[in-house]
Amino acid sequence: MEMGKNIVLIGFMGTGKSSVGTRLGQKLHREFLDMDREIEHLLGMPVERIFRVYGEMRFRSEERLLAEKLGKRRNLVIATGGGVVLDPENIQALKQNGLVVCLQAKPEDILERVNRKKGTRPLLKKGSSIEDIQEMLKQREAFYSTADLTIDTSGKELEEIVALIINYTVQAGKREEAGRG
Ligand code: S3P
Repeated sequence: MEMGKNIVLIGFMGTGKSSVGTRLGQKLHREFLDMDREIEHLLGMPVERIFRVYGEMRFRSEERLLAEKLGKRRNLVIATGGGVVLDPENIQALKQNGLVVCLQAKPEDILERVNRKKGTRPLLKKGSSIEDIQEMLKQREAFYSTADLTIDTSGKELEEIVALIINYTVQAGKREEAGRG
């Protein structure tokens, strides 16, 4: 295991970043931080309300500050919000000391997951269709491709996804050590 490097989960809304991050934290005995939850805590209201009351710009600036701060820490598992990639400086900050893993899912799975938590995602309104999600995925494709590792979560169990990530971080650690020695 590459000691100290954060594991940073990126990916579109509803790809399972929070569930995977929680489980990874448990298995690796690391602190798990969910950036959306941290921002909610800071402003004392849910993301949906932050967007409504202060606007997306305010949310993005909080996200920007937090990415900078977390990029300086070590040994964390971090779940980001789906839009963190839109500012390349966020990814640069999080990569300073982190392995970035992108979770992918089929638009159908994303739609089902976001529909289960209706009203919590201001960028996907109630009537969002598969086409809306496909369109947004296309717009963001290039941003998500900056990850060190991409995992297609379709048809995979949580434990399998977690094992793939742990295996990758172990291999990355070995490569780093070999490079140093
Ligand atoms: C966003 C994704 C959300 C949250 C905010 C904006 C986005 O996080 O940060 O609603 O731009 O994709 P999740 O990916 O956890 O839903």
